[in-house]
Amino acid sequence: MRYGYFDDDRREYVIERPDTPLPWINYLGLDAYVGVISNTAGGYSYYRDARLRRITRYRYNNAPLDSGGRYIYLRDNSSGEYWSPTWQPTQRALDTYECRHGLSYTLIGSSYAGLRAEILYMVPLGETLEVWRLRLTNERDTPADMSVFSSVEFCLWAAQDAMTNFQRNYSTGEVEVDDGVIYHKTEYRERRDHVAYFACSEPLAGFDTQRDTFLGPYRGWDRPAAVERGESFNSVAHGWAPHGSHHVHLALAPGETREVIFVLGYWENPPDQKFDPPGSHIVNKTFVRPVINRWLRPETVEDGFERLRQSWTSLLSPLQVDTPDADTDRMVNIWNPYQCMVTFNVSRSVSLYESGIGRGMGFRDSNQDLLGFVHMVPERARERILDIAATQLATGGAYHQYQPLTKRGNNVLGSGFNDDPLWLILGVSAYLKETGDASILDEQVPYDNAADSAAPLYEHLERSLGYTLDRLGPHGLPLIGRADWNDCLNLNCFSETPGETFQTTANKNGGAAESVFIAGLFVQAAKELAGIADLRGLAEDAISHQAEAEKMAGVIAEHAWDGAWFRRAYDYFGNVVGSSENDEGQIYVEPQGMCVLSGIGVQNGLATKALHSVREHLATSHGIVLMQPAYSRYHVELGEISSYPPGYKENAGVFCHTNPWVMIAEAMVGNGDGAFGYYKSINPSAREEISEIHRCEPYVYAQMIAGKDAPTHGEAKNSWLTGTAAWNFVAISQWILGIRAELDGLRIDPVLPDSWPGFTATRRFRGATYEISVTRQTTTGGRVSHLVVDGKPIDGTLLPVAPSGAVVQVAAVIA
Ligand code: GLC
Ligand code: GLC
Repeated sequence: MRYGYFDDDRREYVIERPDTPLPWINYLGLDAYVGVISNTAGGYSYYRDARLRRITRYRYNNAPLDSGGRYIYLRDNSSGEYWSPTWQPTQRALDTYECRHGLSYTLIGSSYAGLRAEILYMVPLGETLEVWRLRLTNERDTPADMSVFSSVEFCLWAAQDAMTNFQRNYSTGEVEVDDGVIYHKTEYRERRDHVAYFACSEPLAGFDTQRDTFLGPYRGWDRPAAVERGESFNSVAHGWAPHGSHHVHLALAPGETREVIFVLGYWENPPDQKFDPPGSHIVNKTFVRPVINRWLRPETVEDGFERLRQSWTSLLSPLQVDTPDADTDRMVNIWNPYQCMVTFNVSRSVSLYESGIGRGMGFRDSNQDLLGFVHMVPERARERILDIAATQLATGGAYHQYQPLTKRGNNVLGSGFNDDPLWLILGVSAYLKETGDASILDEQVPYDNAADSAAPLYEHLERSLGYTLDRLGPHGLPLIGRADWNDCLNLNCFSETPGETFQTTANKNGGAAESVFIAGLFVQAAKELAGIADLRGLAEDAISHQAEAEKMAGVIAEHAWDGAWFRRAYDYFGNVVGSSENDEGQIYVEPQGMCVLSGIGVQNGLATKALHSVREHLATSHGIVLMQPAYSRYHVELGEISSYPPGYKENAGVFCHTNPWVMIAEAMVGNGDGAFGYYKSINPSAREEISEIHRCEPYVYAQMIAGKDAPTHGEAKNSWLTGTAAWNFVAISQWILGIRAELDGLRIDPVLPDSWPGFTATRRFRGATYEISVTRQTTTGGRVSHLVVDGKPIDGTLLPVAPSGAVVQVAAVIA
């Protein structure tokens, strides 16, 4: 069953009832100021770092689900009746309800008792604030005497501390109310220079800044005392829980529409001009007030909304496709790149599944996020690459994560995830292929942010490869360290203590656990680096990296082929993992995907065999599970993977991130139906009709869908923040549709499902626009052998780079 529908023309998903199986969320803000918003206006906002600079408070795992957010209450003063136009938190049954999640904005509309409300929530481009625009229409034939109350709960900046250290925080909260604006200024004394503010376009009938006064003691958001009685308390917070609420009176004639704008924002003052008058403790409002005034004007908001929409039209313009399949079109053209933008921005930090407290930016994750993002804003990808590389260690290793506010490696998690450094090569390579900008390789980048250690980025890439080569095990395969891509395959951990995290527990020395996955990734990375070396004219480097790739491929063939698939690893004791010799966990998806996509076994038939085994043992109608058979008990020598119940997460869940590797592999061996079948099985739009099973948003990928061993097979979790976004974009656009940036041009090599007669696409690449049309002349299979470019045939499938500004017509025939 569906809970809404796609409005492709407006690039919105329209939710038609508020009680979706889980909160269905969206993101506001593309840069420094970011908010998460659900279809009932739940969620929170932060500035740059969700852990350290949280603006509004949120309680995770709450009951009722998703309470706390950007709330507006409407109150009919003649009857005293009040409700939430966003359904939450009062949950009054509305006469109509509609939530439109668009690209970086959300519109929630409803009507109740003859009053129609529509609220636009957005973060305007380049601003550190969010706008809520309420339009209220009186559809009655009598006048309406209405009260509007707003409500946000401020977070005392450091999100973890604000939730846990209340013996202190109950005494620190401070606010100011000045000229209708509520300023949250906790700790705006000597060490902080920032405040949050909450403003309203209308004259106030009252305000509240102390949560427990606004709500009333022992009450929740569903029946605030101020709203119930129809009058604010004008409370000023001293300690406890600072809060922002405005009260506005609106008298609406029949048919009349009124607009009320609320602006919630973040502001930093220059340290030497914090106070006004100097020497006082009063916030200097000289700099922020003009910004507030501007955004309280309807025309600024309208114009800001228009600019936001236009910016998305341009962000999406590098690739637009028209295929026979609507689920493909809307994911490729709209939602998948949108999700890639969000994962690029917030990494794995903030959603309704990630608290924004625990995790910074992943080294591995952020490099992979680049793969789906680089074509949209290459300059930001460039900056990100340099930030990531600056956290690399001099050994070539990497911190597993870094904090976005400081851009420093995170010591708590440390390093030793031995796949991490190799992803940097894939990230840089994707950037070079998209832009051709080889100057990035000469950028001076420090190791571990130590200024005196700067070396050209190219050297960082060399050290990444070297890091693997310096750490080979007894079979000549790379040592796994703490873990590889699979964070939960902890072969050196041997944890017996409840509650200990597998990610940081001291590893046991003396073993030599090896990873076939890293070996496959190494082959790919070494080949990519060979190409990069060639680009720099370093022919000898190129030859040696190519030789390293071949050597590692040889080691895989000798020690990692199990007879019908690639093995997964060798454990601490040298025993095989992911082999028919094992009783559980006999076959894993990761090495099948990664080895084949790095070209191993494509010529000699091993690839086809491995993919056949994937189909036989791992494929389900809800996607490809991570491994089989699931671990039924804890294996101390394997770690966290075997701590999950069968069918969930890495223990044989459909870990969606791995599925596109198999799609790419299928495309590489020419199996279009196979590749596309896998693509459709996890495409969220194609799963819309089973929303009651899938439960997560139908417009974005989730990290995981419960596997066939789980009682809830087909149920998704952890939507939004997952490498699934970038990799699916790569799989469908570059390998199935086959439009692929390479170092010296644009490859057009589609591997389509048999039922497709072809497709058309527009791809903007290095300043030129390619109008591509692909048509099929075979009934099954087939590949493109040559292209017709502006009417002239050329051999092969590589389009040379056209001059910037050129519009190039490309025709390709699958025969
Ligand atoms: C999570 C992590 C990612 C890891 C994957 C598999 O998605 O963010 O880094 O590769 O899990 O364990
Ligand atoms: C947990 C998750 C795994 C994730 C890891 C990151 O182990 O199960 O998916 O990659 O945390 O820290």
